[in-house]
Amino acid sequence: MPALSVRHLLGIKYLNEKDIELIFETADQFKEVINRSIKKVPSLRDITIANIFFENSTRTKLSFELAEKRLSADVLNFSASQSSVKKGETLIDTVNNILSMKVDMVVMRHPNPGAGIFLSKHVNASIINAGDGAHEHPTQALLDSYSIREKLGEVGGKKVIIVGDILHSRVALSNIFALKLQGAQVKVCGPKTLIPKYIESLGVEVEPDLRRGLEWCDVANMLRVQNERMEMSYFPTTREYTQQFGINRELLDSLDKEIVIMHPGPINRGVEITSDVADSSQSIILHQVENGVAIRMAVIYLLASQLKT
Ligand code: CP
Repeated sequence: MPALSVRHLLGIKYLNEKDIELIFETADQFKEVINRSIKKVPSLRDITIANIFFENSTRTKLSFELAEKRLSADVLNFSASQSSVKKGETLIDTVNNILSMKVDMVVMRHPNPGAGIFLSKHVNASIINAGDGAHEHPTQALLDSYSIREKLGEVGGKKVIIVGDILHSRVALSNIFALKLQGAQVKVCGPKTLIPKYIESLGVEVEPDLRRGLEWCDVANMLRVQNERMEMSYFPTTREYTQQFGINRELLDSLDKEIVIMHPGPINRGVEITSDVADSSQSIILHQVENGVAIRMAVIYLLASQLKT
């Protein structure tokens, strides 16, 4: 059976092109399963997975839980805000206590970049990074590329612009790694203060003008401004941000082609995207969410297969 080159999913940075192909082919099979009337397979009946979330989440948390249940795994859900973390327990103590209950896999979201990498060196379980600070969000990037592949036939050769707060975005970094690995062309667009200095070293071009960027691209991935990760203002006002970097119907209609609109969520309606764009037929935002379940089933299934070797 084909296998991933990694035992944990800590970031797209650690994957190769074949890993992504394998995840997508496996997700194709699971997508077929979750569209049947009986949406469950018995594949992981002997596996226990803990979802430990130290940061808020709607899509990722529910999507992982559903993916695990569709695979028939036993599932533990842990939310730091209601746990002994509040009494000062360390990350390793928390996870080792959970693992002593014979848990095989940990899905973790954490505010600190590298938290999953740290954990993978200290505990004996397979770790999936569900977002670590402003570092990586690998399953989001996989479901984003999978959704582009579904909509446009392939990712290689496509032109993708990522718009918004690139500096604080784990979605941006993981998407850049994933898209480049598959041969897409990538540009980023946003206020100069929200574009990291190193970005061009990743093979990405900076496009300061949103209209020019939209005229160039096949796909625009609109990101939220991550106010919760900012200790100061990075642009004068939200109104000015929206005027320069927000997407709206009038702007899209003025282009001489139809582009695909994506957003990882949560959306700030009226800031980076207006409702008439987010809810339009050009938007694949809810397809991204739907595909997230199949992608996460594929990742969990492939990593769990390695637990048995
Ligand atoms: N896209 C994403 O990570 O959303 P949540 O924060 O709701 O999980």
